[in-house]
Amino acid sequence: MQIINRPSEVSLICSHAKGTIGLVPTMGALHEGHLSLVRKAREMCDFVIVSDFVNPHQFGEGEDYDKYPRVPDKDAALCEKEGADILFAPSAADMYPRGFSTWVEVKGLTDILEGEIRPIHFRGVTTVCLKLFNITRCGKAFFGQKDFQQVCVIRKMTKELNLPLDIVRCPIVRDPDGLAKSSRNAYMTFGERERALCISRAMFAARRAVENGCRAVEEIEKTALEEIMKSRPVAVDYVTVRDPETLMPAENAAGSVLLAAVRYENVRLIDNILLY
Ligand code: PAF
Repeated sequence: MQIINRPSEVSLICSHAKGTIGLVPTMGALHEGHLSLVRKAREMCDFVIVSDFVNPHQFGEGEDYDKYPRVPDKDAALCEKEGADILFAPSAADMYPRGFSTWVEVKGLTDILEGEIRPIHFRGVTTVCLKLFNITRCGKAFFGQKDFQQVCVIRKMTKELNLPLDIVRCPIVRDPDGLAKSSRNAYMTFGERERALCISRAMFAARRAVENGCRAVEEIEKTALEEIMKSRPVAVDYVTVRDPETLMPAENAAGSVLLAAVRYENVRLIDNILLY
């Protein structure tokens, strides 16, 4: 595996690569969720690139850009073990040279849910992803379902800008007790982690309710919220049942997605589950 910092060098190698190029965009601090994406890319593509870049433009003021975990050596060892061909780790100056002023925005879909609470977040995500897609010329890009809205936004951008690539959404990877894997889980105290298990319990309870025939959106949301409130969160940003493509409020729980964002003292967690 080669570790490359310069975008132009990655572009050059990719222009000579044979077969389908698979990209796994990450911000590093890799866990089993990311590694499942690398494995999927390895399975589906001929040449696999993992990008490791903590993108400053997707963090709002007062968010955790400075304290976001950075463990480049560990990330490199994990990518090597999973058989990635390139680990692309650019600097912020290489990705956003002085005077950078071009942004990609997906309107509407980014004004709700996460976008309502983190106003500049998705503009940063779409811009960096489009740059990564262009640098690598990937035919497939792999994203985790954990960031459900992010995948919807990237898919919409890809479709509307006629980008020649497939966006592959891979299932959430959870700890054995149900907590969805996230690099931000490292911020939690032991006590918070125990309390946060209520979120995945709420997700599974919602899925069971739909499996048992419940179709009423309000009932699913009420049950999920009650479960989450047992964990004494600092705030619940949303617990909501939505259409899995448009993210508009769902009318029928079957075929929808339940999404939640919950704050504890040291962390803000998101989770979701498809209700089929
Ligand atoms: O999901 C993430 O880790 C980031 O939002 C991404 C897609 C790597 C863009 O910086």
